[in-house]
Amino acid sequence: MEIIKHIDEMQKRQEALRLKGLRLAFVPTMGFLHKGHESLLIEGKKRADDLTLSIFVNPTQFGQNEDLSTYPRNIEGDLAIAERNGVDAVFLPDAKEIYREGSQTFVNLDILPNYLCGLSRPGHFRGVATVVTKLFNIVKPHVAIFGSKDFQQLAIIRQMTKDLNFDIEIVGAPTFREPDGLAMSSRNSYLTAEQRQTALCLIKSLQNAADLVKNGETDPETLIRHATAIIASFPDTAVDYLTVCDPVTLETVSHITGPVLFAMAVKVGVTRLIDNMTIEP
Ligand code: PAF
Repeated sequence: MEIIKHIDEMQKRQEALRLKGLRLAFVPTMGFLHKGHESLLIEGKKRADDLTLSIFVNPTQFGQNEDLSTYPRNIEGDLAIAERNGVDAVFLPDAKEIYREGSQTFVNLDILPNYLCGLSRPGHFRGVATVVTKLFNIVKPHVAIFGSKDFQQLAIIRQMTKDLNFDIEIVGAPTFREPDGLAMSSRNSYLTAEQRQTALCLIKSLQNAADLVKNGETDPETLIRHATAIIASFPDTAVDYLTVCDPVTLETVSHITGPVLFAMAVKVGVTRLIDNMTIEP
């Protein structure tokens, strides 16, 4: 497994493999890898001849009062996971390599960031879209794999890929869950044992919404009311948002007639967790 820290070296490697006619897969991450990331790596291995993993805690996607400095890191552990999953190259740049002095170009989408997480994390998706664009130009993949837990991020990357004419297949992999249903996230490591139990309020309220719709409920407000009550019944929780929206445009829906996305962000203690489920009548 190659470990590459510099952009030009990564680009040369990828170009040489492209010239040989190999299909290249890419899984971008911020490290502290867990089983959810592993499922993305497994998907990448299936879909290409060569797999690159990037590990980069991207400063431009963190707000001023967010957890950039405390974001969990474990490079040794990450490299062992990468090796075990047959990763061919790990791109491990530092922030100065990615954001070179004098750099002044950012990627901004006009509409999709104005919903869900974008409302409470201004600038977050500008940082994501910018770094993913840079990584696409550095890693030059044919296919890139992203998790569906970050549903809005996935929608934004799909839109950006289309708008900027990247010749890259974007694959959304299903959310990987713990046996009790909690969506895997590097930020779960912030939770105390008690908060870890409380964090189940997200999946419980999503499952309840799916059941309501299965039993004929078509009013998004009813789903939101039930979810609010379930979350409030757990200690130390605060809802950031609960939305029933169109899975493509992310616009809220007023009546459920087809598949909808139920998406949420909930604070458990100081840890902000997100989850979502596509629900069909
Ligand atoms: O999902 C993540 O881990 C990050 O947002 C990404 C896509 C690697 C960009 O920094």
